[in-house]
Amino acid sequence: MKEIIVYEPKEKLKPSGLIGLSDAQIDDHWNLYLGYISQVNRLNDEIVELVSQKQTSTLVYLDRKRRLGFEYNGMVLHEYYFGNLCSKCSPPLRGSLLQEIEKHWGSFQDWLDDFANTGKTRGIGWSILYMDPVTGQLLNAFIQEHENGHIAGFIPMLVMDVWEHAYMIDFKAMGRTDYINAFIANINWKTVEDRYDQGTERKLCIRF
Ligand SMILES: [Fe+2]
Repeated sequence: MKEIIVYEPKEKLKPSGLIGLSDAQIDDHWNLYLGYISQVNRLNDEIVELVSQKQTSTLVYLDRKRRLGFEYNGMVLHEYYFGNLCSKCSPPLRGSLLQEIEKHWGSFQDWLDDFANTGKTRGIGWSILYMDPVTGQLLNAFIQEHENGHIAGFIPMLVMDVWEHAYMIDFKAMGRTDYINAFIANINWKTVEDRYDQGTERKLCIRF
């Protein structure tokens, strides 16, 4: 590997002034996102160094390879997450994505209930509305930690963090349901629709 991308924070994605989610909560969460970027960059540097030293059969090298999915998804999912939050900046969902949701679930509320309940899965992780860009199938899936459960090639439309760090400051450890309600009140539907439109046009989803 001759060249490695050095990842940097996407400051424009940082929300503020949300309804029911404090800036202190977002600031704390944002700092964790910065940590993932740092870890991704360190991980890539260390792997390149180990390769150059011909250390590819060592446990250290193999461990670093195992960590790629955790650290990369930790960075990427937070970019989707912060990017689909905003304060009073977005009209309700309408258009082709709404029609597709109604086709798959019967009603918008039925889909939303399923998305929220997916996020109540016991354990730390994420609730994600995915789209299969080949068939158009929509799917609410739970991702454990950052990397377990992704469906290869499916595109995230809406991403909700349900690790406890996402709500501990505002809602404490037992407050996941209240947090999910607050998250829903701050969804940037325009961003979600843009992701859907990009996906249906067979483009890769632009997350920032
Ligand atoms: Fe998080």
